[in-house]
This record gives sequence, structure tokens and C-alpha cells, in this order.
Amino acid sequence: MTAKIVGIGTCVPETVVTNDDLAKFVDTDDGWIRSRTGIRERRISKKEGTCELAAGAARRALAAAGVKPEELDIIILGTSTPDRNFPSDACSVQAAIGAANAVAFDISAACSGFIFALGIAQAFFQSGVYRTALIIGAETVSKVTDWSDRSTCVLFGDGAGAAVLKADERGLVDMTMGSDGTKGDILACTSRTLGNFLTGAGPKLGLMTMDGQAVFRFAVRKVPESIELLLERNGIKKEEIRYYVLHQANERIVEAAAKRLGEPMEKFPMTIDRYGNTSSASIPLLLDDMIGKDMLKTGDRIVISGFGAGMTWGAALLEW
Ligand code: UT7
Repeated sequence: MTAKIVGIGTCVPETVVTNDDLAKFVDTDDGWIRSRTGIRERRISKKEGTCELAAGAARRALAAAGVKPEELDIIILGTSTPDRNFPSDACSVQAAIGAANAVAFDISAACSGFIFALGIAQAFFQSGVYRTALIIGAETVSKVTDWSDRSTCVLFGDGAGAAVLKADERGLVDMTMGSDGTKGDILACTSRTLGNFLTGAGPKLGLMTMDGQAVFRFAVRKVPESIELLLERNGIKKEEIRYYVLHQANERIVEAAAKRLGEPMEKFPMTIDRYGNTSSASIPLLLDDMIGKDMLKTGDRIVISGFGAGMTWGAALLEW
């Protein structure tokens, strides 16, 4: 048995923030952001938390799949920006959607969260422990964004995407996941603290920091490498792949990956122009967009691939 995606749902905050909006308070401009990243606008949360977005995406995914919340065996939510340290956002989603029979927990794999959630669900499916799962990537990155740092604040957006998985004969063909903790400092966010009464250390506001070029170099090497590995190991030629659904971090990263793979850009759909980098939500947001445009047909072979802080990465070969 393997995991098959039977429904996708997404939810983004109402508020659209354009590049011009950002240029009002940080030294940047629309031309730079568009040409260096491909981003035109992103959604930023005014009031919606990670749980609310995640629950919204979950409800839509369940409706698309025709699955009732009580049928879910497991909910795995990938996030780096949970609303609370505990309980997990997955437990909050469980309560919000009424998935009384599911076990629910969060995982921390940054932008690879959706792919890692898929990998964990797959292991449960293969072992026969569970048969119906909800995996979610949900973020409110805006709350850990340093809005005075132009090299990071223009890149990210908030949003959530969810997929309902069912045990089936076909679906997820194979996947690969990896981590390299030695590169942890190139993209990080320390936790918030009110200080330490023993040492007298003051409060600290945990904000995201990033060495953009190091992350860029890592991604353009790792993404094609993991995809090549997956295809080779399954004896699949690139011509047999209909689409490469890559984590939406930067249009130039996607273009560089396409070039290294020797594949045409038509096979690399994108949503980065509208949503920016939504971290763990970017892959389900893109899949949902493709479904809306009727781009995916039964039997299509697609690859999904992500990378993120950790550093972490993963790729999966799916038969739609
Ligand atoms: O999910 C994973 C998350 N992170 C990523 O995927 C990030 C990967 N990295 C990137 O996408 C790119 O490295 C960035 C978009 C972050 C930066 O693009 P770049 O082409 O690597 O630019 P750079 O860092 O080399 O900066 C070039 C110039 C610098 O000015 P000087 O030193 O040449 O005068 C920056 O200060 O661009 C400047 N710059 C900006 N200018 C206007 C940096 N950010 C901005 C900005 N607006 N927002």
C-alpha cells in the first residue's frame, strides 16, 4: 500500500501586500524584488493565525476528497511558525475540524515540512498502521520576519495547504528526504525568551536571519540532485515527468534547477508571483493552483521537491 493524494485544500490570509507596499517602509523597490525573486505580492496575516489557516485548508481538502473528519487516522502538520509552543497546532486543527479519531502532531522541518509530513504518513501506510491521513503545511512567517531587513522581509508570505491521503495501490511511488544540521545557521530563527533570571540576560525577540546566497547555492545543487536520484532509482526518464512542483522560494532557483535538470520551464509551474515564499505551504498551494487550472490528469507522473532550514530537503515521485 502507498499514500495517494485524494484531495487538496488551501487557505491564505485576505490581505494582499504588494512590493510597492513594502517599499513604503523598507529600502527596496518593485523592480528589484520582481527581477531577483519573481514575487509581485504576498498574503500577510492581520488576524489569521497558523491554526486558522491550517483548519481552513484542512476543511477544503476534506471536502475535495469527500472524506469526513472522523475518518482521519492521523494529522501531521508541518510548521515553523506555530501559534503556540504547546499544544501543537495539529491538535488545535483536530479540535477545529472535529477529527475525533485522529492522532495529531506537528513536525518541524521548515519549508520541507509538507514533504516530510508526506514521508511520515507514507511509513504509517506502508506498515499498515493507518489508512487515512491529513497532512498540512501552514505558516504565518510574518510573525518571525524582521520587517527592517530588506533581504528577507520581501521574500515571505503567509498561507496554508493541506492534502488528504488514502492508502491505495498507486500514488506515491518513491521519495527521498535528507538533513544537514551543519548548515543550520544559514537560515534560522531563535526562540523568543523573556530572559534568564540567573544570568540577568534580557528578553530576546526571535527573528528570522538568513544568508541568502548560501541558501541559494544549497538549493540549486540539492533540488536537482535529489530529483535525479529519485528518477534514477525508479528507472524513470525525465520525458516521463509531466511537471516538477518545486518549493516556491525564488523564481531564479526554479529556473536554475530546471537548467541543471535540462528540462523546459513549461514543466515548472509557479505561484511565487502571487504568494511569495510560504515555506511549508508552498507545494500544496501550487498543487491546488494546478488542480484549479485542470493541469493534472489521472496517471500523470509528477515530482514534488522542497528544501528549507535545517538544512532539510526532500523530493517525491507521484503518480496522480
Ligand atoms: O525557503 C528557503 C528560504 N530562502 C531562500 O530561498 C533564499 C535564497 N536566496 C535568494 O533567494 C537570494 O539570495 C535573495 C533574493 C535573498 C537575494 O538575491 P541575490 O541576487 O543573492 O542578491 P544579493 O544578496 O547578492 O544582494 C545584491 C544587492 C545587495 O546590494 P549591494 O551590496 O550589491 O549594494 C543587497 O544589499 O541587492 C541588495 N538587496 C536589495 N536591494 C533592494 C538585497 N535585498 C534587497 C531588496 N531590495 N529587497
